[in-house]
Amino acid sequence: STTSTSADGGTLRMGTNATFPPYEFVGDDGNVQGIDVDIAAAIADKLGMKLEVTDMEFDSLIPALQSDTIDVALAGMTVTPDRQENVDFSDSYAKGVQVIIVKDGSDIASPDDLEGKNIGVQTGTTGDIYCTGDYGQEHVKQFNNGPLAVAALVNDQIDCVVIDQEPAKNYVAANSGLKILDTAYADEDYAIAIKKGNTELLDKVNGALKELQDDGTVQSIVDKYITT
Ligand code: ARG
Repeated sequence: STTSTSADGGTLRMGTNATFPPYEFVGDDGNVQGIDVDIAAAIADKLGMKLEVTDMEFDSLIPALQSDTIDVALAGMTVTPDRQENVDFSDSYAKGVQVIIVKDGSDIASPDDLEGKNIGVQTGTTGDIYCTGDYGQEHVKQFNNGPLAVAALVNDQIDCVVIDQEPAKNYVAANSGLKILDTAYADEDYAIAIKKGNTELLDKVNGALKELQDDGTVQSIVDKYITT
């Protein structure tokens, strides 16, 4: 799927995983859209580049950067020390929160109740990494994407899902009988991942991002998709 802005400064190839509304999802027209696509389009515009969006598995994004298949990954991706060993991150453009989704009537009321439960996560995400570290791999069931994890919760195959807050709100709204616990699991920062050592692109992206933050563009993109 491809989005483009007219330009002559080359192509900015963005990778994402479009199962994560409102940051990225496949719209009714079949195109990938969302906060990350709009931010990338605004950055490409500032750099005089054309944006090309490729949808892939979340855990393929860092390998795709490393193999030069894409230039930037915007996927609600959290900055973590482990990832920073493999890619460079731009300045942060949004806050993320890991939350817990349960069925109504669940005996899980807070993160303290997760011990020994079967936890669904999206493979390779921070929800996966944190829960595997905190509760052990045998308690963590990996799914290709959030909607599949939520479907397994609806079907009683798992006890909860640990995933990012904004997609969680969308998943809960799309299914009856689910809720998000009030106590969050973790707070994080989202940023744009770029191939390690590509400081030329990193500097350009950070420069464009700063202008878009300073002039209110980033906030207006967020407000277009998230109404509180
Ligand atoms: N913030 C989490 C992470 O970085 C989840 C991101 C998932 N993104 C997606 N587009 N599916 O690991």
